[in-house]
Amino acid sequence: MSNVVYVLNGPNLNLLGTREPQIYGHATLGDVEKLCRETAKKHGLAVEFHQSNHEGEMIDWIQKARSEKAVGLIINPAGYTHTSVAILDALTTMEAPVIEVHISNVHARESFRRRSYVSQVARAVICGFGIDGYALAITGLAGIIGAKE
Ligand code: DQA
Repeated sequence: MSNVVYVLNGPNLNLLGTREPQIYGHATLGDVEKLCRETAKKHGLAVEFHQSNHEGEMIDWIQKARSEKAVGLIINPAGYTHTSVAILDALTTMEAPVIEVHISNVHARESFRRRSYVSQVARAVICGFGIDGYALAITGLAGIIGAKE
């Protein structure tokens, strides 16, 4: 098995920092990537970090995480959370733990955001902690897989 954790980000997350900062904060996706790499390093893990505005590209990365035997997959599917059976199907093929992350508290927003296709295959779900949720997800994953600090 590798020591690689995939961190995948869905549509519009490339705009973090300028997109609805009252909801998503001022940190950029670059800040998220840095936080993920720093947190992973503490646990001896490496990060494969991606963002896409395209559903099929996200599915390709999920399949790559599977074929490369990633130790875990952290995903913020953004708007696809609430719509994508295809991403659910791809995640269902993963043997490694899947952790779902949302920057905002999706339960305190519009009712359509309360439904997640991804949650039914996620080992854990984190929402509402801002970008710190990514660090929490990596730390939680390290605990699940028994990665050494
Ligand atoms: C989000 C929440 C989703 O409902 C929304 O479509 C996003 C971001 C979050 O991180 O809070 O794009 O996944």
